[in-house]
Amino acid sequence: MDFKFGLLVMLCMVSASSCDQLCSDEVIGELINRLDSQQQQINSQRTEIDNQKSEIQMLKEKLALKEKKENKLSSENQSTKSFNVRQLPIEGTIAFTAVLNHEVTKLGVNQNIVFDLVHTNVGNAYNPHHGTFVAPVTGVYVFHTTIFTRLNHLAWCKIMVNGVQKVSVYVQAPAGLNNSGSQMLVVRLNKGDDVAVQNIAAADYIYSDGNNYNSFSGFLLQDLSEIDSTNVVG
Ligand SMILES: *[C@@H]1O[C@H](CO)[C@@H](O)[C@H](O)[C@H]1NC(C)=O
Ligand SMILES: *[C@@H]1O[C@H](CO)[C@@H](O)[C@H](O)[C@H]1NC(C)=O
Repeated sequence: MDFKFGLLVMLCMVSASSCDQLCSDEVIGELINRLDSQQQQINSQRTEIDNQKSEIQMLKEKLALKEKKENKLSSENQSTKSFNVRQLPIEGTIAFTAVLNHEVTKLGVNQNIVFDLVHTNVGNAYNPHHGTFVAPVTGVYVFHTTIFTRLNHLAWCKIMVNGVQKVSVYVQAPAGLNNSGSQMLVVRLNKGDDVAVQNIAAADYIYSDGNNYNSFSGFLLQDLSEIDSTNVVG
């Protein structure tokens, strides 16, 4: 009401000269009616603005929720992708460990030491009947062997690739004592190349019991079949 009154006073001041005629009850009543309807319009616009405000707020919340969902989806997508990437090499995994399930006492020179108890043979490239590993793909491989002897004996072995000695292990045990030796070979193999541990000296004595002192292990470090020209032929 103060607002309306103020307006009225202003109107009367502006037209002060003719106020006597203008400011009749009729005119004032008309003006009050107009102001009332304007006030109503302002009120309804305010309500509309309030409604729009809450609508905007609702849309903002919806959008935030949607963005959150999308972020979650895309991070799930991301983790699915990296999961797939991690899964890929498993298909090409070549890895084995075998141990000696028996003592080796009278092995001839250049005979395979047959590590006959298989712990791991992913890719089935190791043959526990012959003690030979055959490379299923061209690549870089890692092999390792440990040989155990005791009581004034010796054991002398070599890791062979296609019948060629690459590295050897020499172990001598003093009287009344045990001893073991190890050797590792990192080698590039072509598909079909074979690897085995062989005996060197005829008098070798490799001691074995349930402790599994003797082992032969190998795994594919890097598959190179993509750049292997011999694969193109087959
Ligand atoms: C998930 O990844 C696929 C293939 O890369 C893509 O087409 C899709 O748009 C992604 N989805 C999301 C929610 O990021
Ligand atoms: C040598 O190994 C055998 C078999 O495990 C064990 O019984 C023996 O005590 C060991 N000897 C020494 C001196 O460690």
